[in-house]
Amino acid sequence: MTEPENNDGSSAVQLAHVTRTYKRDEFEVRALDDVTLDIPRKSFVAIMGPSGSGKTTLLNLITGIDHVTSGRVAVGGEEISTMNEREIAAWRARHIGLVFQFYNLIPVLTAFENVELPLLLTHLSKVDRKTHVESALKAVGLADRLGHYPRQLSGGQEQRVAIARAIVTDPTILVADEPTGDLDAKSAEEILILLTQLKTQFHKTIVMVTHDPRSERFVDTVYRLDKGVFTGAEKGGTSTKTPASPRISA
Ligand SMILES: Nc1ncnc2c1ncn2[C@@H]1O[C@H](COP(=O)(O)OP(=O)(O)OP(=O)(O)O)[C@@H](O)[C@H]1O
Ligand SMILES: [Mg+2]
Repeated sequence: MTEPENNDGSSAVQLAHVTRTYKRDEFEVRALDDVTLDIPRKSFVAIMGPSGSGKTTLLNLITGIDHVTSGRVAVGGEEISTMNEREIAAWRARHIGLVFQFYNLIPVLTAFENVELPLLLTHLSKVDRKTHVESALKAVGLADRLGHYPRQLSGGQEQRVAIARAIVTDPTILVADEPTGDLDAKSAEEILILLTQLKTQFHKTIVMVTHDPRSERFVDTVYRLDKGVFTGAEKGGTSTKTPASPRISA
C-alpha cells in the first residue's frame, strides 16, 4: 500500500484510509469508509458504483471542495487534506479542471466568453487570453463556434465548450462528474473519445464518475465503490481484473 508521504511522482491522486461521514440529526452517514487508492498520472480512470455509493463525495475530496473526516488526500504529490481554504482555492485554480453533467455554461455568454471565464482570474493579457481560448476550443473541435451561445449548440457541443473551459488553464487533472450522463449514445462516445485524446495528446489525468458501462472500454482503470467502500479496481478496455488494494469486499 502506498501512503501519500511515499509519493514517488507517479501518482496523480492518492487516498490513504479516507473516511468521510456526514451527521444528520442523530444519524451518521458514512459516505466513504476507509478508502485507500492510487490513480496514476496521465491515466483516464472511471469511478463507478450505485447511487449513493460515495462517488461525488470522492471527487469533492480530490478537488478540495469537501474535507476528509479522517485519512489523507494527496493530489499531484501535494497533501491537500491539510491546506486551509485560501491555499486550497489557489491550488485548485492551478491544478484542477471541472466538468459537470449539465455543462454549467453561462447562457448569456458566447462559447468564447464561457471558456475565457477562468482566465479572467489570472494575470494574462487580453491577447494572451484570446490565444488560450482559441486553442482550447480548437482542441475540442469547436474552432468554428466561438461566437455561438449555449442555446445555439447541441448538448454534445455544449459539453465540449465546458471541457474547453476546464482545460483552458492547463490543469494537471480533469475531474468530471457524469460528463456523458445527459447525452445520447453518439455524443457520449464523442466526449469519451475527446477525453481519451486529452490524455494521450495533452497528458492530462482524467478522473471521471460515470454510470455508463459503455465508458469502460475507453478508460485505463475502473475503480468501484459500494456503500462508501472501495471494492476493487479493474482494467478498462478489457475485462481483465486486478486485485483491489487494500481490500476487496465480500
Ligand atoms: N452534504 C451531505 N450531507 C449529508 N449526507 C450527504 C452529503 N453528501 C452526501 N451525503 C450522503 O453520502 C452518501 C454518498 O453520496 P454521494 O453523493 O457521494 O453519492 P454518489 O455515488 O455520487 O451517488 P449518485 O450516483 O446518486 O450521484 C449518500 O448516502 C448521501 O446521502
Ligand atoms: Mg453523484
